[in-house]
Amino acid sequence: PGPNRRQDRSAFDAAAAEARVADLATGRAGFANTPDTDPDLPANRTWGRAVTGRMRGSDLGAATVREHTLATSEELERVMSAGVAAAAGWQALGADRRAEILHRAGVVMEARRAELLEVMGSECGKTLDQGDPEISEAIDFAHYYAGLGQELERVDGATYVPSKLTVVTPPWNFPVAIPAGSTLSALAAGSAVVIKPAHPAARSGAVMVEALWEAGVPRDVLQYVQLSERDLGTQLVSHPAVDRLILTGGYETAELFRSFRPDLPLLAETSGKNAIIVTPSADLDLAARDVAASAFGHAGQKCSAASLVVLVGSVATSRRFHSQLVDAVRSLHVGYPWDPRTQMGPVIEPAQGKLLRGLTTLGEGENWVLEPRQLDDSGKLWSPGVRAGVRRGSEYHLTEYFGPILGVMTAGTLEEAVGIVNDIDYGLTSGLHSLAPEELGYWLDNVQAGNLYVNRGITGAIVRRQPFGGWKKSAIGAGTKAGGPNYLVGLGSWKDAPVPG
Ligand code: ALA
Repeated sequence: PGPNRRQDRSAFDAAAAEARVADLATGRAGFANTPDTDPDLPANRTWGRAVTGRMRGSDLGAATVREHTLATSEELERVMSAGVAAAAGWQALGADRRAEILHRAGVVMEARRAELLEVMGSECGKTLDQGDPEISEAIDFAHYYAGLGQELERVDGATYVPSKLTVVTPPWNFPVAIPAGSTLSALAAGSAVVIKPAHPAARSGAVMVEALWEAGVPRDVLQYVQLSERDLGTQLVSHPAVDRLILTGGYETAELFRSFRPDLPLLAETSGKNAIIVTPSADLDLAARDVAASAFGHAGQKCSAASLVVLVGSVATSRRFHSQLVDAVRSLHVGYPWDPRTQMGPVIEPAQGKLLRGLTTLGEGENWVLEPRQLDDSGKLWSPGVRAGVRRGSEYHLTEYFGPILGVMTAGTLEEAVGIVNDIDYGLTSGLHSLAPEELGYWLDNVQAGNLYVNRGITGAIVRRQPFGGWKKSAIGAGTKAGGPNYLVGLGSWKDAPVPG
């Protein structure tokens, strides 16, 4: 193995990983390339060659999805009973043994990287530059939560009691990392899991689950379902056998789930309406680049995306900043992931409702700096839009749109800019571009968001280094952050814990 980060991670069970890679290389999964064995090759390119040209028309995972689509309430009851029955054995296995299996899950996902990239691209429009780090994140979750599970078991003087059955309902925008992170955290804590990926990401979730099964997670400890009826969804998330629910999705969905069973502990990562503030002391070239990347990566379909940029003082009239930003956005090549020129992919579902309004209508006083254009008949390919003149308190200022649109606001002072950010009900990510330490100090003390980024983009939190989670309406029942040291603590309860103080 060379200095490549992935090779290092594979060290846990290199033999198994190599066997799996050999399977891929000999065509078991249909890829002709020998992937990722040359540490001198940029990893994306290696996989990029393997993936491009094979994405279109793949039905990878479709059979699994069909196999696990439940049509009746009785079928769902059987799944829930099997999960509860399997929980005791999984817990009794102990954290060390569970950690072995979860580390192996990281190795298997690494070995199946190309397959995951393909399915994420064909199903959810993930471009290679977005999908590849997402798979790394899923692998990081496996190794990190495996270790945290072991730590929990070693706490002196108290016993951690895991949930028996955790239901995981992840979104489609991170079709591998979020399902994997939520599932792995619950498994590491000692709980059985029933996962129901969002329908547009059903196959990506299926491949991820297959990887965990392949690593040795028993099939009744981790069960995958798709549901043919909405009523079954309600039955799933309000089932009396469930003792923990992990949701990533919109705030309204979280509220709805909570209304079904208010007593059920819910860990929900919800909506965001995130802003980057740019002050006159900033490196404006860097700021323009980071704003564009944060707003339009994965076509803006990240809870962490920048939906607003707030320009302070002279930045508002800086021709240099404006032309840099407009050039950066206008030059993004929009297309499907299998086209190697693509820098911004499609919206996952044809734009409709709020998103369509956001792409086509302006609020009072607003104007298009770059008007979004629909690029084909699918309704999924849109050129990125930039609107200026967004007013404080307007609909655009306060509403999450989840698509390729950026709004420009202006403020006389940093204090006013922070006020604009804090007006928003959500508080997930926030950015500041400034080279003045006193501005940084003021912003850090006053801005209301869970993840704060200075002089860089505001998406792409890294497991362990940047635990991820929001404030205000961006989180429910949280207090612990995904990919952070306390996340598993929030998934269970304690027996005999010493009373603090
Ligand atoms: N964890 C994802 C990010 O940081 C949502 O962009």
